[in-house]
Amino acid sequence: PCVLSGCDKSTSSTAKKPVDFLSKSGYNRLDGAPDIGTSLLITFYVEVCSMLVNATNMLLKARDGHYAVGQFNINNLEWTKSILLTAQEMNSPVILGVSEGAGKYMTGFKTVAAMVKAMDESLGITVPVALHLDHGTYEGAKACVAAGFTSIMFDGSHYAIDENVAKTTELVALAHDHGLSIEAEVGSIGGEEDGVIGMGEVADPAECAKIASLGIDFLAAGIGNIHGKYPANWKGLDFVALDKIHNATDNIPLVLHGGTGIPDEMIKKAISLGVSKINVNTECQLSFADATRKYIEAGKDLEGKGFDPRKLLAPGAEAIKATVREKIELFGSANKA
Ligand code: 13P
Repeated sequence: PCVLSGCDKSTSSTAKKPVDFLSKSGYNRLDGAPDIGTSLLITFYVEVCSMLVNATNMLLKARDGHYAVGQFNINNLEWTKSILLTAQEMNSPVILGVSEGAGKYMTGFKTVAAMVKAMDESLGITVPVALHLDHGTYEGAKACVAAGFTSIMFDGSHYAIDENVAKTTELVALAHDHGLSIEAEVGSIGGEEDGVIGMGEVADPAECAKIASLGIDFLAAGIGNIHGKYPANWKGLDFVALDKIHNATDNIPLVLHGGTGIPDEMIKKAISLGVSKINVNTECQLSFADATRKYIEAGKDLEGKGFDPRKLLAPGAEAIKATVREKIELFGSANKA
């Protein structure tokens, strides 16, 4: 936790912005230029408090406060900027998810960590932000610890339970030694692959209990959820299974993957049954693509300097913001920073 009173980046105290922190520290902007001591405090605030945090505290708070924190996956600078600015505007904690594929696309986990840390600081973001590996392999999880991520997911759901247990145990120790939070998964989350839609597995509560007892900080358990768009014949989330998993896992914060396209009422019910983190990826991609298509189809790229990427990508970036705003409202994490 941060040693400064008034700094809430990792202590969850009540200060929300640098200015709150400074006024708590006795500095009032109307008094004129800060003295040397205050200048040092400002520098310290930016250097120490403007940093990423792990996701443990934000999810324990969410669990106890009966809301969920959104994990929004990032793909590039525009995605990251849109999500950070919206979380700040809504005064909400946020988790930036990075899949191994997106990590590769952005030229590696080190690039991602450097970009996110610098952007968090440059934008003056004061809400808690975690940088989290999504569906990590064993090797990917280790690479993200080394690269400076603040949270990892190890997805050992495709291993036999004993191997999932062994690898998760090792990664829990590694993550915690470096101050990271760690998510593990039981019961694979389905989704579309090469045009074939796999229905999500429903996790076995006994296996969930076993993995939850290894010291992980939050657990992803399949309850019929899938990544990507849900097919028309989807049966919905299995709340009986979710209730059993919740009861078997000692109140550990649960994670709902495949947040795109789940009806609002199901999201609310899932939160009431222990879900504290909800992952959203495809919905931001769809919003971005839709807004970009409209811009091009309207011929805006052919008008003046409409081809400038800063103009061409702007409607998509705004559309991501709108989607993130909507989800933060729905998940109930606004004003919970
Ligand atoms: P969607 O792409 O369905 O929103 O799922 C995101 C996710 O669960 C990332 O782990």
